[in-house]
Amino acid sequence: MATSVVGKEVTRVDGRLKVTGRAAYAVDHPIENLAYGVPVASAIGSGKITGIDASVAEKMPGVLAVMHHGNTEPIFRTAEPFERDSHPGENRPPFEDDVVYYYGQFVALVVANTLQQAQEAARHVKVSYDAKKPLISLDDPGAETKPTRRHYTRGDADAAFASAPVKVDATYVIPTETHNAMEMHGSIAVWKDGKFTLYETTQGVMNHQGVISQMLGVPVENVHVVSPFCGGGFGSKLFPWPQSPLAALAARTLGRPVQVTVPRSLMFTTTGHRPETEQHVRLGATQDGKLLAIAHEAKNQTSPMNDYVEGCTEPTPFLYSCPNVTAVQSLVTLNIGTPTSMRGPGTTPGMFALDSAMDELAVKLNIDPLELRLRNYAEKDESSNRPFSSKHLRECYQTGAEKFGWSKRNPKVGSMRDGNEILGWGMATCTWGAYRGGAQARVRLSADGRARVSCATQDIGTGTYTVMAEIVSDKTGIPLDRVDAVLGDSSLPPGPTSGGSSATATIVSAVAQASMSVMDDLFKLAVHTEKSPFNGADSASLVMSSGRVHKKGESPESGVPFEQLLKLRRIAALEQEAKTGGAPGREKYSMHSFGAQFIEVGWDPGIARLRVRRTLTVMDAGRIINKKAGGNQILGAVVMGIGMAMLEETVYDPRNGKPVNNNYADYLVATNADVPEQEVIFLEYPDLAIGEYGARGIGEIGLTGVASAIAMATYHATGVRVRELPIRVEKLLESRV
Ligand code: MOS
Repeated sequence: MATSVVGKEVTRVDGRLKVTGRAAYAVDHPIENLAYGVPVASAIGSGKITGIDASVAEKMPGVLAVMHHGNTEPIFRTAEPFERDSHPGENRPPFEDDVVYYYGQFVALVVANTLQQAQEAARHVKVSYDAKKPLISLDDPGAETKPTRRHYTRGDADAAFASAPVKVDATYVIPTETHNAMEMHGSIAVWKDGKFTLYETTQGVMNHQGVISQMLGVPVENVHVVSPFCGGGFGSKLFPWPQSPLAALAARTLGRPVQVTVPRSLMFTTTGHRPETEQHVRLGATQDGKLLAIAHEAKNQTSPMNDYVEGCTEPTPFLYSCPNVTAVQSLVTLNIGTPTSMRGPGTTPGMFALDSAMDELAVKLNIDPLELRLRNYAEKDESSNRPFSSKHLRECYQTGAEKFGWSKRNPKVGSMRDGNEILGWGMATCTWGAYRGGAQARVRLSADGRARVSCATQDIGTGTYTVMAEIVSDKTGIPLDRVDAVLGDSSLPPGPTSGGSSATATIVSAVAQASMSVMDDLFKLAVHTEKSPFNGADSASLVMSSGRVHKKGESPESGVPFEQLLKLRRIAALEQEAKTGGAPGREKYSMHSFGAQFIEVGWDPGIARLRVRRTLTVMDAGRIINKKAGGNQILGAVVMGIGMAMLEETVYDPRNGKPVNNNYADYLVATNADVPEQEVIFLEYPDLAIGEYGARGIGEIGLTGVASAIAMATYHATGVRVRELPIRVEKLLESRV
């Protein structure tokens, strides 16, 4: 029997289309008679629009309309609390009224025959404002702080901290980070016969359909969302942002297809970001390193339009064993656009604070930081009192330590050298929840010898096309080059959003069951077809492997190719759908992935240069369906983590809330020269509590330990503890080593 493609290093089925430039991203779709909309963005951070003078712009060549709150039909709010599949990025629909909540808010849309005409006319729309001083900083005394319902407590952390023999009390700050996907946000809307077709770049075609249906007030079946490729999302494309309903409104108003793209500069204001966070962590411990108290208080920026919670304290209640824990979240409303999920939301900034504090504790206790984590290893989830479904974090630590050579680490600051560079070694724990939702998938076997699998999910670069095809191939034995995966289209059987690292775990069971179900139909056909070699046999005695139907226990060669049976009956195709639900073990277990990261930095004090020299990640994320795509997820996350730790920061002008580094030149992300040799090891213990394949998600967890490991390695090399990201060399100049 042929071996399955599951678990192998399988090259993406859509890879060739992408590298040859033939993959059509959202605004690449050739649409006839297309008009172009260019947003006019507010030039103040807070206040009111007192007037919009479009008289010059309207007379400019090619201009079709200048739309704003004073002259358009309403875009509706979606129903709250959000039903499944109706979650916008920003609760307030564009053009709701004359209020300006943040710099960059869309206040008008110029539509013209060409992009250049629209851009030029947009510059001539005169908006006057009654401006107020915006609230920009978490510390602004005028800013409202709201508690959230995310408040966890066990034992008495305050009392235990007060009486603990060893204490760490520190505050960690992470600035606003902007996702900066390569493919900019953009939408093309076509309105025809009362129906919308939307070409989008989205992490959720179903959610996008639901939102636009509600915002534009049309039945959901009259909205068709198409998104075959997504050039990066990282959370910024989970929920529709204003350009999409505006494109739809303009298309319907003008009776012409309209494209609205968001320029790079406005992606810093109007398509979400990871909000600034400030986290106060107190750890109390015994002299031999047993945690007595963890108190973790986090606050994050939110906008006046949404109460967005960056769930920094999510891992705190279960990550380490500790009798007294409190975790509190609060929000600070500022005149900055609505934040959104950014890769590993909550846990990533939360782990920077919690694990940095753990390292500070290790230094105080003079205990090896890895040993400190082992002394506080959580054997069960102490917050829910449930066992973990499958946790091999100890093995992650041990395998990583061995591979990295951790035992050779001299804990003395500045004591390890390589030439001009002082080496710093850091390590951190990684974690991310294991999520699985409901999905439907359809599998077709055709008389041309091909299989086709479809689902209204999307591939955001993670390998979803390939994983879907692999599961069909796994069940049927049909080689991958004869399996077509179809997704990115809301008219297909309802599928999941690509978010929370849950898409793979969510779809594999639906695809597997639909495959089994269509094979069942095929076997029934095989035993009821006159010229079939299996005519009259028991259909339960048949199996399919290598794409051939044969008797159980016999070789595939003894049977016939599946398409032959279809041809015999003159049936073009058989097709079946399956619908699956959440993780079977979700009531019984605490379900999380875990990992450990080990990072070496080099600090050259002569030229004040800090760089990452090598990284090692060991992941316990269940079974890995595709080692190539899965490994790429971890590599990409580590690159992003290097950016988070050392480069990324969206800087706002306090006068008006304008992000002053709103471009690729000034907002630094990690590029090739910043990224060293990387190694990724998967432990691969299938977690059957999540499904038959035992695969938990891996899109986000690779980011969760990077910043704390780099901060710790930097301390080890330089003696400077950086508690405010990013770690820039100017923060290290006080280094005495
Ligand atoms: Mo992820 S931040 O849920 O795209």
